[in-house]
Amino acid sequence: MCGIVGYIGNQDAKEILLKGLEKLEYRGYDSAGIAIMNNSGVQVFKEKGRIADLRQVVDQNVFAQTGIGHTRWATHGVPNHDNAHPHQSTSERFTLVHNGVIENDQILKREYLSDVSFKSDTDTEVIVQLIEKFTNEENLSVEEAFCKTLSLLKGSYALALLDEQNNGTILVGKNKSPLLVGVGDSFNVIASDAMAMLQVTDQFIELMDKEIVVVTQENVTIKKLDGTVVSRNPYTAELDASDIEKGTYPHYMLKEIDEQPLVIRKIIQSYQDDNGNLAISEDILKAMKDSDRIYIIACGTSYHAGLVGKQFIEKLAEIPVEVHVASEFSYNMPLLSKKPLFIFISQSGETADSRAVLVAIKELGYKALTITNVPGSTLSREADYTLLLHAGPEIAVASTKAYTAQIAVLSILAYVTAQSKGLEAKLDLVTELGIIANAMEVLCNEKEAFENISREFLSVTRNCFFIGRGVDYFVCLEGALKLKEISYIQAEGFAGGELKHGTIALIEEGTPVIALATQEAVNLSIRGNVKEVVARGAYPCIISMKGLEQEGDSFVIPSVHELLTPLISVIPTQLIAYYAALHRDCDVDKPRNLAKSVTVE
Ligand code: F6R
Repeated sequence: MCGIVGYIGNQDAKEILLKGLEKLEYRGYDSAGIAIMNNSGVQVFKEKGRIADLRQVVDQNVFAQTGIGHTRWATHGVPNHDNAHPHQSTSERFTLVHNGVIENDQILKREYLSDVSFKSDTDTEVIVQLIEKFTNEENLSVEEAFCKTLSLLKGSYALALLDEQNNGTILVGKNKSPLLVGVGDSFNVIASDAMAMLQVTDQFIELMDKEIVVVTQENVTIKKLDGTVVSRNPYTAELDASDIEKGTYPHYMLKEIDEQPLVIRKIIQSYQDDNGNLAISEDILKAMKDSDRIYIIACGTSYHAGLVGKQFIEKLAEIPVEVHVASEFSYNMPLLSKKPLFIFISQSGETADSRAVLVAIKELGYKALTITNVPGSTLSREADYTLLLHAGPEIAVASTKAYTAQIAVLSILAYVTAQSKGLEAKLDLVTELGIIANAMEVLCNEKEAFENISREFLSVTRNCFFIGRGVDYFVCLEGALKLKEISYIQAEGFAGGELKHGTIALIEEGTPVIALATQEAVNLSIRGNVKEVVARGAYPCIISMKGLEQEGDSFVIPSVHELLTPLISVIPTQLIAYYAALHRDCDVDKPRNLAKSVTVE
């Protein structure tokens, strides 16, 4: 996590860096800082809290045309002023920002820096002190000292370094953590994400692991750690700056919930061929058909989408699927089938836990498909194949439109694979997804109803249960995660039939239980489970689907194809969570302790 930016050119760097950091706040927002450099030297401004807090401490009177910046999600050391980046070497000649985690920082500290007095608890300070040490004591140039330091680091980093004695250069290094160099006319920039620097350029150069870059106002020189120069052309970032604005919405999360119908329509369009048929590239279809078992690897919300995807692939394409949480799979790999295919689901395409699995399975020689929202992201680049979500930038930390986009793309993948295997069509997917988009619109227009449900059921409670059966259970897991992460209400998604095997002990007078009832085969059973909790004092809120509704249900969602119900039954849970957070005065878009892109394992 953490986001970094840098600017070198002829304009005032401060504002460009601060604006860039505001766009990267989704990557971490517990402290932030910038360092700016001019002929009189380097000045560092940093503060605990958000970019808005940092703005208050930046001296607006200093003009500098070079600078670096950082927004932090703490890994080493608590979020405070001292641990905030940038960090400086003892003499303050070198100033560094870092995104990533150095695993051997303590070893390096003991081995090389026992005489150095440290000002912070961070792994980053070890890096900047090493650069100073090697420059001073080994008679190395700064670039050589930088490369030597990088060659000693174990872990992930995206780094930008200022040297007070050379105000015409920013030195950059990357391993595992994302980093781009943006190129402009008489200026160059760096950023963890193109979004941060779209304000000044849409031309970006991707960096590969173990590369360094010497960035000056006029030149970008990419090198390997051994000094070999690498040539790489910029690409045009196809992001619309307006996609990353809130517009008239009070929160990104609400905007992104409302964008879901549009995203589904965009996905249908993007995956249709010239004849209007859904299509997936032949090499992906071949990989799907050649595999005897598919392993879906993901985290959090993307994992929940994977659980729904398993249903599609097994029911439509008739290929067995296992869904695994990435952080567990890495260390506890199951016995694999003979011809596995791995599918990585990741909104950001940068999640370190998923990447660790990707690296491991590539070493074993297996093929991987990444389903992601971010073209050119690490998981996309390193997999054999990519399918894009076309959801547009998702800024709110709580994922909403990426979840439904992931499910829609998985449905298309399963459907087209089934067609290519010559299996009998179980639905007309283009039509059914069109119905879904319309139903989503209906639900997004019912905000008041969900605000009322949220007020009625969640305004005073400390906990809440979501219960469902079949695919409804998977949506319950996602509904509970959403409620937890933004409203801090302790919530649990449970399989309706499983509650009575222990957890029902937690039900007491007034405990809210939100039940989803969208599956005909289990409609009566889930209602039986609701009766069981009501008998123990629970306060039930039943969200059912048209055709399955019963008197007393709190909300009835439009009827859609049974296989695809998660695409719309999740919307009430997203909106209920949104309003619960709002009623509790929580920071909806930036919940505590979290970051959007989890780039540490
Ligand atoms: C929850 C949420 C997270 C992410 C998870 C994986 O709202 O956003 O649980 O789903 O961190 O992130 P990606 O999909 O970027 O790999």
